[in-house]
Amino acid sequence: MSSNQIWTHKGTFLLAAVGSAVGLGNLWRFPYLAGENGGGAFILIYIATIAMVGVPILIAESLMGRSSRRSPIMGLKHLTETHGASRGWRVIGWMGAVAAFIILSFYSVIAGWAVHYSGLMFSGSLAGADSEQIAASFDTLLASPNLLLAYHTAFILVSGLIVGMGIHKGIESGLRFMMPALFLILLIVLGYAVVVGDAGAAMAFLFTFNLEDLSLEGWLEAMGQSFFTLSLGMGAIMAYGAYMSSEASLTRTAIWIACVDTLIALMAGVAIFALVFGSGLEAGQGPGLMFVTLPIAFAQLPGGSILGGIFFILVIGAALTSAISLIEPIAAWLIERFGLSRPLSVGIMVAACWALGLVTVFSFNIWSEGTFTQAWFNRSPFDVLEFITNILMPIGGLLIALFVGWSLSRQEVLREMATTSSWFAVWQFLVRFVAPTAVAFVFLRTIPQVEGYLIPTVGAVAIIGGFTIGRAMLARR
Ligand code: PHE
Repeated sequence: MSSNQIWTHKGTFLLAAVGSAVGLGNLWRFPYLAGENGGGAFILIYIATIAMVGVPILIAESLMGRSSRRSPIMGLKHLTETHGASRGWRVIGWMGAVAAFIILSFYSVIAGWAVHYSGLMFSGSLAGADSEQIAASFDTLLASPNLLLAYHTAFILVSGLIVGMGIHKGIESGLRFMMPALFLILLIVLGYAVVVGDAGAAMAFLFTFNLEDLSLEGWLEAMGQSFFTLSLGMGAIMAYGAYMSSEASLTRTAIWIACVDTLIALMAGVAIFALVFGSGLEAGQGPGLMFVTLPIAFAQLPGGSILGGIFFILVIGAALTSAISLIEPIAAWLIERFGLSRPLSVGIMVAACWALGLVTVFSFNIWSEGTFTQAWFNRSPFDVLEFITNILMPIGGLLIALFVGWSLSRQEVLREMATTSSWFAVWQFLVRFVAPTAVAFVFLRTIPQVEGYLIPTVGAVAIIGGFTIGRAMLARR
């Protein structure tokens, strides 16, 4: 029972994939990672990884979606059957679904912080506040389960409503309105930052490529970020690819997605650092960069309350268009597999994800100490969830590269790529060799973070995983 739905316009896949790609990863995570890891050097590695690993896997994942025309879980079943490939590859669909589910559960809570801050900004209650007051306001937010819960609930409900309305009336129409609006807001914020902030210092920080500034950890962080920001390995791109017009070019579309996503991350970076440096603040603030440092800057600047409020609307909107891409793959599976209606499928997915979100909500307050995760893994429950996705994401990417590179029939791949030019050979080389090697490195990034019982856990996963992949690849066509 495949869903024979196609986007109304040839370009909608591009719009939807950009909507998925541009999110908290660009506006929140990218600037703070660049700030912590030496600016330009980090960006150089980030861009190189996007070009050599991100784009090839992006092509591979959208190819899997379009070729199967099914939700990721059903799509893998279909592809392995029609290509005579090992059933083992089906794990790609399941792992992606688990990762998407976990990510949405905390993504929604963090997006909720932006809801809180847009309110604080517009109401002017932070105007003129000093850095201690603003840091304290962030702590107060995190300490309140009720507040976090209210925002989380509101955010995930709105995301669910859009997906529940269907891929045309909900997702497509929503994106066609939201994406240009978000870009316009980003231009306004950037313009404001250039006028009132120190754009020169921001540019110097972001575009001075000093490779000595970069630690190995920063290097791997840049590669991990390039996966997260392109929404790879989680079935989001595959699910959207299933609705992609057969005429659109996979390669050209993937390159566009990567360029727009990177451009937006850089624009956000320039805007944020211009404001931060213009107010004499520091770049390396970690995750608090957007929720503490930036509000401090807005509080001091002329018109900061309004522009700050507008900025956080941008964050909410960008997060929303990413969240819907995390709901769609699982909702589409429930529809295909069990014949449920779309509203019911989305409702189930959102309700379950909302419940898991409670773990993140409580991690910052009532569960910040003394849970079994601290005892066993020396991490808060939220950190454990994030850690799991940090592992699943690169493995998903790795498997996608290996599956499309080695296990799909050449005929089908050629048909989808609609080219035999030398670019095809370049792509195939990247997807077969370069991407898997690079991803293996990203995976290593998690090793130094491993403690306690996680060592045997990660070890066992690696051994079983390696064995399964090997068997799947060697399996008969
Ligand atoms: N790419 C999104 C971001 O940058 C996050 C995301 C990851 C969305 C995976 C969907 C799937 O915020």
